[in-house]
Amino acid sequence: MWYITFNMLKLFKNFEQIVTLDSAYAKDGRNLKPEDLSIIKDAAIVFNDNVIEWVGKSSNIPAEFKNLEEHDYSGHILTPQIVDSHTHLVFAGDRSSEYSMRLNGEDYQKIADNGGGILATMEKTITAGEEELFELGKKRVYDIASYGVGAIEIKSGYGLTLESERKLSRVIDKLKKYFAPKGIQIFNTFLAAHAVPGGFKNSRHYLDSIVLPLLDELARENIIDFVDIFHETGYFSYEDSELLFNAAKKHQIAIKIHADEFTDNKGAVLASKYEAASADHLLCTTEDGITALANSSTVATLLPGTAFFLGKPLAKARSFLDAGCKVSLASDYNPGSCHCDNLLLIASLSAKALGLNICELWSAITLNAADALRLTNQGVIKKGFDARFSIFKCDHIDQVTYNWGKNLAVTDFNL
Ligand code: NIG
Ligand code: FE
Repeated sequence: MWYITFNMLKLFKNFEQIVTLDSAYAKDGRNLKPEDLSIIKDAAIVFNDNVIEWVGKSSNIPAEFKNLEEHDYSGHILTPQIVDSHTHLVFAGDRSSEYSMRLNGEDYQKIADNGGGILATMEKTITAGEEELFELGKKRVYDIASYGVGAIEIKSGYGLTLESERKLSRVIDKLKKYFAPKGIQIFNTFLAAHAVPGGFKNSRHYLDSIVLPLLDELARENIIDFVDIFHETGYFSYEDSELLFNAAKKHQIAIKIHADEFTDNKGAVLASKYEAASADHLLCTTEDGITALANSSTVATLLPGTAFFLGKPLAKARSFLDAGCKVSLASDYNPGSCHCDNLLLIASLSAKALGLNICELWSAITLNAADALRLTNQGVIKKGFDARFSIFKCDHIDQVTYNWGKNLAVTDFNL
């Protein structure tokens, strides 16, 4: 969470631990060992005007900060701010029946082919008004923030008509403006290339008619932070993705991609070629994609909640980590393939199965997740970096991920 400090210095002291990730940051979030958490025990932090001024032992506070009003955080720990870098939280309706259908043996793609899936949410979202979608989104952002998450990326993509996609991008922009003064960062991702609605000859026809003209329009309004595409068999092809990415480059908008979720479509290779901020899902990525990501600045974002929710095998996280990729985790919160908004729960549940050590886990939801949103001045607790952090009521970092589904986050610390 971020502080509205009005340019005043603040001193928070007596933390049981401050998890700085200093060493993880120095290693660019790659090849991490548990000790790269860089924990300071009995720690204090001084920050000013949203910037960290000093961090260290409570017993070592420099004389210049000694007269500041003290805030006692004994019984708490502090970490870099948790970031959820992949959500689709602006939608109407729900698809609970699809989850039960999958429990009863149906498959995601078959359900989509029979009138469910993204297009089912599209029908509900098209008829919902802008105010209704804003209120739904607002409630969801507040819920996510209550878990200690301070930055949330939100994708459009359930509109799929010119008017309705425009409406979604504007709703996300409204959410961004509403939450900025409250210290919550919202990022606006344009995912009109999420599925091809009826009435178009093919994906290229839909891109040319709706996606690319709307991107031009919204880019001029300066409200889009990232473009994204569902690069998948039956959705959008390699050529479609290149077309969109070239348009994004022209507008200097950063790129994200839903890559290799159901098939190895070389989405990871494509992401590194276009220097995407992140390639997400990666359930089916093979060696060429892993090597390409490892040799790039593109973050490999894994979404284990989606694999759990769909009953699919998890991504091969260790292959990405051991190759030297920057790996992050995100929730993918959406009505169809992962109706779970709690990234910390997803990370805690999946870490062992993914083979993450404790530093890889925390970097994946803070430092590397920030990087997936190109936020290079946060994700580490260090002098000169943004004062963006999460605070938990416990006395050791281990307790946060150990307490599956229990919310230890403290979110009422805006002073
Ligand atoms: O990230 N893969 C594409 N989009 C979403 C699913 C959206 C839906 O099923 O509604 C995802 O999994
Ligand atoms: Fe997604």
